[in-house]
Amino acid sequence: MVNGSPEALFFSAIPPEGISRNTLKEKLGIETFDIGSKAAAKNKWIAFDKDLVKRKVESVEDEVKNLLTRINNGEVVSDQVINDLKRRKLIVKQTWKGYSLKRGPKYVSKRKKAATDLTREHIVSGDWKNQEFKEYNVNAEAPAIQVGYLHSLLEVREEIQNIFLQMGFEEMPTNNFVESSFWNFDALFQPQQHPTRDSHDTFFLETADRTKDLPEDYLEKVKRVHEFGGYGSKGYGYDWKRDEAEKNLLRTHTTAVSTRMLYALAQQETFTPKRYYSIDRVFRNEAVDRTHLAEFHQIEGVICDRGLTLGDLIGVLEDFFSRLGMSKLRFKPAYNPYTEPSMEIFSYHDGLQKWVEVGNSGMFRPEMLLPMGLPEDVNVIAWGLSLERPTMILYGISNIRDLFGPKVDFNLIKNNPICRLGI
Ligand code: PHE
Repeated sequence: MVNGSPEALFFSAIPPEGISRNTLKEKLGIETFDIGSKAAAKNKWIAFDKDLVKRKVESVEDEVKNLLTRINNGEVVSDQVINDLKRRKLIVKQTWKGYSLKRGPKYVSKRKKAATDLTREHIVSGDWKNQEFKEYNVNAEAPAIQVGYLHSLLEVREEIQNIFLQMGFEEMPTNNFVESSFWNFDALFQPQQHPTRDSHDTFFLETADRTKDLPEDYLEKVKRVHEFGGYGSKGYGYDWKRDEAEKNLLRTHTTAVSTRMLYALAQQETFTPKRYYSIDRVFRNEAVDRTHLAEFHQIEGVICDRGLTLGDLIGVLEDFFSRLGMSKLRFKPAYNPYTEPSMEIFSYHDGLQKWVEVGNSGMFRPEMLLPMGLPEDVNVIAWGLSLERPTMILYGISNIRDLFGPKVDFNLIKNNPICRLGI
């Protein structure tokens, strides 16, 4: 814009006698010619006479150049002028921000630290008069309280424990992780060749590998029922070995504990009906994956009474599981060496939109109960399930290693909401 606006350049390029369009175009260049001719015509500085361009006035004032010079010198011009120049792209808007710093009312040359507390020393020395005190920040958060938190499994265990107690169950003593094969398998009428008695499925002990303490009378009866049957059964017809029964192992199910309890019950002079439960650890020599660990917690319920039927079992299971929040149940015939009939329990999970297996159940066989000495009309209904499974479903955990073992995140335990079953 040093030379002037396009219209002024256009005007000055026209000699007094006029000039042809094409010559002018060549002289000015196409851009200046186009813009300049339009603006000069609008200002009525020029006229077109056929091919000729002529001056209409003697001289012109290059308003635009003047304006730009004024703007450049920092003068204020009207908004309309600014908009006009902007539209013609002769100016662009630029913004500068500036700050001016000066001393404020709290200015001091040396910084004083505000006291957080009024102390005895302030009062004794009297300096509290000049002392500045920090204001209380009532919005500040208190430090997190350092307390222990229950592991999610323990929270769910307590809830399930409460359900059993409400239903009139007594807790069984489960403080023996080490059990003999006799109580874990033989007393449950599980044959000695049964695949689960293989070391692939069961952890056997190397030290203290045998138990010395088995009830001799009862052991004889168990041996007999395995070998020859009795009580209306044919037995398995094999050579039962005491050595096999003496082998110590880590219990594979808490049904070993139920068996001990039922045996103790059978030794009483007069029979009393009982409802027992337990929730404790069991061990299986399984390949560990996202849903299996080599140790887990088993929930077990047992009812022992005269004349119990499969209908009683189904009724109790429906009651128990509905208290756990599972009211849609289905039962599937299954096989356990110690129960007949046996049923797997499935529950419809609304979140997962499918039937999930939630437990196993059955009526203990006469081959198991009668050698103990329980009266013939006494039946036992029982069921078992893992504690991990419902906990994982409740808390939305898909990998069991996030729930149990060395990979558990303490924050998960800390931040897990309290457990509310059955809602
Ligand atoms: N002991 C069974 C298991 O380990 C569960 C069960 C308990 C089945 C009682 C029937 C009766 O899966």
